[in-house]
Amino acid sequence: PTDQRVADLIGRMTLPEKVGQMLQLTARDGVRHLVEEFHVGSILHASPERVREAAELARNSRLGIPLLVAEDCIHGHSFWEGATIFPTQLGMAAAWDPELVERVARVTAVEVAATGVHWTFSPVLCIARDLRWGRVSETFGEDPFLIGELASAMVRGYQGDGLADPTAILACAKHFAGYSETQGGRDASEADISRRKLRSWFLPPFERVAREGCRTFMLGYQSMDGVPVTVNDWLLNEVLRGEWGYRGTLVTDWDNVGRMVWEQHIFPDFTAASAAAVKAGNDMVMTTPDFFEGAQDAVAKGLLEESDLDAAVARILTLKFELGLFENPRHPDPARQAEVIGVAAHAELNLEVARRSLVLLRNDGTLPLAGGLTAGPDGRAAAPDAPARTIAIVGPNADDPHTQLGDWAGASGQAEWLPDGHPREMITTVLDGFREIAPAGWTVTHARGADIVVTGPDPEGEFFPDGQPRPDVALPAAPDEALIAAAVADASRADYVVAVVGDRIELVGEYRSTATLELVGGQAALLDALAATGKPLIVVLLSSKPLVLPPSVSDAAAIVYAANPGMRGGRAVAELLLGLIEPSGRLPISFARHAGQQPTYYNQVRGQHGHRYADLTQAPAFAFGQGLSYTTVEYSDLRVLTPAVGPADTVRARVQLRNTGARPALETVQVYVSDTVTSVTWAEHELKAYRQVSVAPGETRVVELELPVSACSIVDARGARVVEPGEFELRVGPSSRVEDLQRAGFTVVG
Ligand code: IFM
Repeated sequence: PTDQRVADLIGRMTLPEKVGQMLQLTARDGVRHLVEEFHVGSILHASPERVREAAELARNSRLGIPLLVAEDCIHGHSFWEGATIFPTQLGMAAAWDPELVERVARVTAVEVAATGVHWTFSPVLCIARDLRWGRVSETFGEDPFLIGELASAMVRGYQGDGLADPTAILACAKHFAGYSETQGGRDASEADISRRKLRSWFLPPFERVAREGCRTFMLGYQSMDGVPVTVNDWLLNEVLRGEWGYRGTLVTDWDNVGRMVWEQHIFPDFTAASAAAVKAGNDMVMTTPDFFEGAQDAVAKGLLEESDLDAAVARILTLKFELGLFENPRHPDPARQAEVIGVAAHAELNLEVARRSLVLLRNDGTLPLAGGLTAGPDGRAAAPDAPARTIAIVGPNADDPHTQLGDWAGASGQAEWLPDGHPREMITTVLDGFREIAPAGWTVTHARGADIVVTGPDPEGEFFPDGQPRPDVALPAAPDEALIAAAVADASRADYVVAVVGDRIELVGEYRSTATLELVGGQAALLDALAATGKPLIVVLLSSKPLVLPPSVSDAAAIVYAANPGMRGGRAVAELLLGLIEPSGRLPISFARHAGQQPTYYNQVRGQHGHRYADLTQAPAFAFGQGLSYTTVEYSDLRVLTPAVGPADTVRARVQLRNTGARPALETVQVYVSDTVTSVTWAEHELKAYRQVSVAPGETRVVELELPVSACSIVDARGARVVEPGEFELRVGPSSRVEDLQRAGFTVVG
């Protein structure tokens, strides 16, 4: 019946109505003209009032077709006051836990659906391979396998039990494909990727969610080999719709169709660009109002047949029917919002995710503080027998709610209706966290120590390529000696110094790539001065992406990576440092020692004999998969139980783990495969599976591992994914570093 209803509607639509159905515009400048003049099929970035107004207008339009309402809810509902904002995707990824990510997406869908939004532009499946890129925090990191696991879980969480469920929202896999392969880390530059490389690393996560039923895909801005994704017939039709059999809906990124005229200059006008976009199979055209005239003009000039639009319109209408919007438009529902948005159970899950997202990178034994405390009945850490201590909390990110939430959280100027972000009382900064749970009688002091950026007029006058002036730009602040002196004074009187440093929201996101990775705004000078006090220094890097820490902290007592840990993140940091919880996060991305060391991802192809710098090692500061516990887990006795396997078989192995310390561990047992000889150059080893296991103090556990041989494939010179018979090595351990891995061979027989 859906097909019939769709066909019936299309049969009654005029050409302008069909073109309008393919158009998605922002409702910032009002909505009446969007519906009455453009007959839009979808709106995005709309305030609740505008959503309701637009829905009424659409319902009363000639055919009464409801609107699809879209928003970027990528770690919670970005632009809804009081919605639950989780750690960013990069933070979530550090938990390596698909089930947790699925729960996050489910909660997000429940909150988002109550606000009248039907479609989230999430998850991001881009591979973060250049840390200078501004959008690293939006990714699940650098590994295609981990990205596929987590993205698939996120899609399941959003789409729930099916679109008919009123709490289900449409997921959107983005940005298809290769958008993150930037030049110099700059956003949306031409992505220089061969088709073989795309198939090797960039496409697999997308293929996975396409086959699993992710209902929409967003096409990246960039071109590859001269062809923008928007009109890339090979990628869209041969691969996505052809090979993978994808039946979902494609949406462009922001003004992709217009960009082909004014930015990429591959079409002379909107008529030609619109015709090409329709022919390539785009369904929804985001924020190119000129598409409305352009597509109609293309029909008038014979560049398109009216029927060329029908497949796209049918896909959009199908989504609307399957969501049930004709019967229940799913308007913003204040009663439901009060029931579900930001409620305690969601805050509790948020805290759980934040706890799991923290990665302990270094510890000389200072952590947990005072040997580790336990939670008292009031939630505070209890230290009845320990002397009262003083903790100096310093650093610009110790008490900065915006940076703690990260990008797409209402505070970065992307939504005029949420200018102040989320209610302050919902956010627990690191300072709040310590004040909340430090043992009674302990002293917690606070000093900013540095300012990261100052905002001022753009010295170059213009920023956007189409000449739109950018009103202001964030520039690194100069070190402030007075701020540093005040922080050092606090540190000198303290037993422990917790320095919370990083970046700021103004340096993060789309159009906000950074040329450097060093801490800016006098933070390095602050850390130097704190290190010089000789007090135990715990560095918490609260930043959107891995940054380079100054040499003075190489001997710091401890280093924790916290990403942007979300609303409850500061509480989780305090719990971790005080020992109320165990550190269990593992890096989903490698840390560089210097911006010039890029790239640092672990699975670079081998055989580059000049890969070492004359002035710097190529080893990352911290590698993919690394992360410590408050105990030590020893790996031993890796055994492959299936020494010879065929291509359709499963490799089975086991490894022994022993917790040699006094605290429990949640260990992420990482399984890498190395193909000894490959017909094309390939990575030394790649993550193919992992298991998370709890190991109690003193416990020895044997962990069974399984891996389909098909996972041991490479992409050969013809671009085909194949398992090449021969010798392989299974490498199992706590990180991607060769020295951390147990090894055992197996043979794939042809
Ligand atoms: O969804 C985003 C995309 O990731 C980047 N450009 C704008 C889109 C809509 O906000």
